[in-house]
Parts: sequence; C-alpha cells; structure tokens
Amino acid sequence: MVGVPGRRAVRDTLPKLREELGIDFCILNGENAADGVGITAKLADGLLACGADVITLGNHTWRRSGIQEYLATSERVIRPANFSASAPGRGLTVAPTADGTPVAVINVLGSLFMEPAMSMFELIDGLVAEAREQTSVIVVDVHGEATSEKVALSHWLDGKVTAVLGTHTHVQTSDARVLRGGTAAITDAGMTGPHDSVIGVKKDLAIQRMRTGLPVRFETAEGGVRLEGALVDCNGDGRATAIEAVRLDCP
Ligand SMILES: [Fe+2]
Repeated sequence: MVGVPGRRAVRDTLPKLREELGIDFCILNGENAADGVGITAKLADGLLACGADVITLGNHTWRRSGIQEYLATSERVIRPANFSASAPGRGLTVAPTADGTPVAVINVLGSLFMEPAMSMFELIDGLVAEAREQTSVIVVDVHGEATSEKVALSHWLDGKVTAVLGTHTHVQTSDARVLRGGTAAITDAGMTGPHDSVIGVKKDLAIQRMRTGLPVRFETAEGGVRLEGALVDCNGDGRATAIEAVRLDCP
C-alpha cells in the first residue's frame, strides 16, 4: 500500500472486507506507507490495528528514522530475510489466525535493481524448513522487480509453501493460479493506493524526472484509489485450493 490514500483505503475498507469475506489472516506490504517511501513505527502500529496481521517490507525498509529500533523487537513487522545478517529485524515470523492456526510469513527481496546481501535462492530453503517446524501454512512475499525471478521462486517453492505472492511493481498481474503442487501464486498482488499515478507518484512529477533526467521531488498522487491484493484459500495442511486477485475501487 502507498501513502496517505493507501492508508485511508486500508483503514476504511480492510476491516469490512475481512468480515465480509471471512478472511482469517491478512499480510500487508507496508514499505511505501510513509508518504510513498518507508514506514514508521507509528504507521506500522496503525496498520496492524486496522486489520493487518503481519506487515512485510522491501527495498525501502530503512528510509525512515526509528525503524531500525522498531524492527529489532517487532514480531509482526518483518523485512526481507536476505538483507545483511547484521541488519536489525527478521525475515520470517509466525503469527496465529483468530482460531489459533499458526501462519508463517517469509519476506525476501529479488536481485534485479535491488541490493540484497545474498540471492533469495541461497536462503529460501532454510527459511521454509524453519517455518515448517512451526506450521504447514507458509506464505512468501517475494518483493522484486523482475517477473522472471518471482515466477521462478513460485515454481521452486511449489508444493513446499501455501502461497508465493509478489510485491514491489505496484501493477497487479493477471496470473493468479494454483500451481500443480498446491502452491498459490501471483507475480504481483498490485497496489493499494492512488492508481491515477505512476505507480503511486504524481504523474507529472514522474514524467518530468524521466523526460529531463533532473532530480524531481516525488509526491504521492491522490486519485483513482483502489485496494488491491490476493485472496488465498487453503486446507489445514497448508495446501492452497484457490487464489483470486482482489481489486476494489475505494471512494
Ligand atoms: Fe519496493
């Protein structure tokens, strides 16, 4: 989700949606919560209070002051696992649904245009094994620019996790499907935020920067707000039975 319009959409729509659709667990990528880049402790707590069970992050994790200290102790807000081992925070957490079913959430960063300390493929097997010791319901947020990396990870993890959900590009892809081994996947879950924009930024500012190559201060756009994501159904054994892309216009 992106900026103030995204936060407003989450606040006004998510609790209702959770009830209407009987959603047991909600994972929110919050790395663009603070005015388009980064997240603060206060914003993270606010999103958790609105119905997010776990918040994942990405390449903009460290953009706001105070977040390092927050992530060092948070059990509900995680950052990509393939950052440096000396960075604060964790890339895997386990939290319960309302009925007590544990859900493991793993956050990893792709390599294209990113600077992970190591490839996500180097450590994903270890993370999944660690998650599996605690639960069979495992969801991976793969935060990446390249569709190929995200699709490859989905196939690698097919039959090993419940879902592999892509984030970062802010454009929802039309490939939500359950793979042969029972893993739900979508290359990008999309963006909760202002869609009359260039992936959340005011159009004229993004175009100006691209046309001139000069530094332009980005501002979050306002119009065309939608809540987007993916809804996954699974069995008690963690095997996905359905996945559906969610796309809702927000007033
Ligand atoms: Fe990102």
